[in-house]
Amino acid sequence: MSSTDFSKIPNSLQEHWMPFTSNKDFKENPRLITGAKGVYLTNHKGKTMIDASSGLFCNPFGHGRKEITEAVAKQLEQLDYCQPFQQGFGGSFELATKIARHTPGNLNRIFYTICGSTAVETAIKISVAYHRAKGDSQRFRFIGRERGYHGMNIGAISVGGMVNNIKTFASILMPGVAHMRHTHLPEHKFVSGQPATGIELADDLERIAANFGGENIAACIVEPIAGSTGTLVPPKGYLKRLREICDKHGILLIFDEVITGWGRTGSAFASQEFGVTPDIITMAKATTNGVVPMGVVACKEEIYDAVMDASPKGAVELFHGYTYSGIPVAVAAALAVQDIIEKEDVFSRAKEMAPYFQKGLFTLQDIDVVENIRGYGMMGGIDIKINVKPGKAGFECFKACYEVGVNFKATGDCLIIAPQFICEKKHIDEIIDKLRTGILNYSKNLKN
Ligand SMILES: Cc1ncc(COP(=O)(O)O)c(C=O)c1O
Repeated sequence: MSSTDFSKIPNSLQEHWMPFTSNKDFKENPRLITGAKGVYLTNHKGKTMIDASSGLFCNPFGHGRKEITEAVAKQLEQLDYCQPFQQGFGGSFELATKIARHTPGNLNRIFYTICGSTAVETAIKISVAYHRAKGDSQRFRFIGRERGYHGMNIGAISVGGMVNNIKTFASILMPGVAHMRHTHLPEHKFVSGQPATGIELADDLERIAANFGGENIAACIVEPIAGSTGTLVPPKGYLKRLREICDKHGILLIFDEVITGWGRTGSAFASQEFGVTPDIITMAKATTNGVVPMGVVACKEEIYDAVMDASPKGAVELFHGYTYSGIPVAVAAALAVQDIIEKEDVFSRAKEMAPYFQKGLFTLQDIDVVENIRGYGMMGGIDIKINVKPGKAGFECFKACYEVGVNFKATGDCLIIAPQFICEKKHIDEIIDKLRTGILNYSKNLKN
């Protein structure tokens, strides 16, 4: 096998310690992806599969986009790298201007990171820096939410609310973090869109502020729709109430839009979709269509101004940054994505396809092992009934679906479905049909 032929199983699978993977199971029965084009993936057995989760929510504009490949190749030839500290290149400024055209309100100051986790960590640090600059150094507390996922560095796990992540690293998490309850109530069964009940869950923030002193809280961070834990759509009025409580106490509101950003809800950002403007937005994934790592933090102008004004001219205002913050190759991919967004009106496309996708998704509710379905825009979650222990059903179901040619991500017992925006109705039909077959096959195996 030549060193660039990735269509065959490599000689050894042992050396690579895979992330968030059952390594032992995988290495006995590998699932290697060898090619991707449009909405389809090919695996090492030569089987074609439809991509029902846009990779990990990253490739909504389709696999193998020529425009992006060409832009990246051209950039690598012209300027492959320049250090981002005390230097720069034109592209990152051009991209910041373009991103700021889409962000809500005056979230027009753009800081680049390398992924979603580092975007969240940066948002945490910017919040601290902002309050310090305003003379509010006592604000060190952060408020997250149960079932939130914000990434895997220490800051992101600390504010996140996924049990296994927290349990595994409990001894080294950030101090001063409290969590609100998640927004999924027992009565939210088979609800498409925003549940009518549960706005009062936002009052957890008020209770936490009463307990710790609102004047000690730096920021509250939530995903507008919790994505990785299965599309937990915010109850009607919930985000607005969070905004009001934050305003009352001077707490910054951070929306982690790493999944919902760039059209997943049908608007550029969930913030616009739900009519609530946070102080900071984090994004990653679809920013480059997932092909080059990049994270972005968009801040209100007054946050940037406060941090700038607190330092004398010539001093570094924020002691933070990464070797790969806004490097040319990531910027080139992101600029090509901006062109695609403009030319193909992709947000409208996602908005138009969403009702068709949601209707199809909810047709699966008659399957006996389907416990619940939730959905909004071009994202949905299907809970599979627990089998013996949490996570087993989801993983087995994922494998059964993979065998019939539909690929997605499963978190615990939830199948995460997030079709690409380039999907036509026939692709949505294929996703739903194959999900039905895969879930039914899983169910039949249970009975045998
Ligand atoms: C909402 C949210 N924030 C942050 C992250 C972390 O992103 P990354 O894996 O790029 O660090 C994710 C990843 O899925 C996410 O869904």
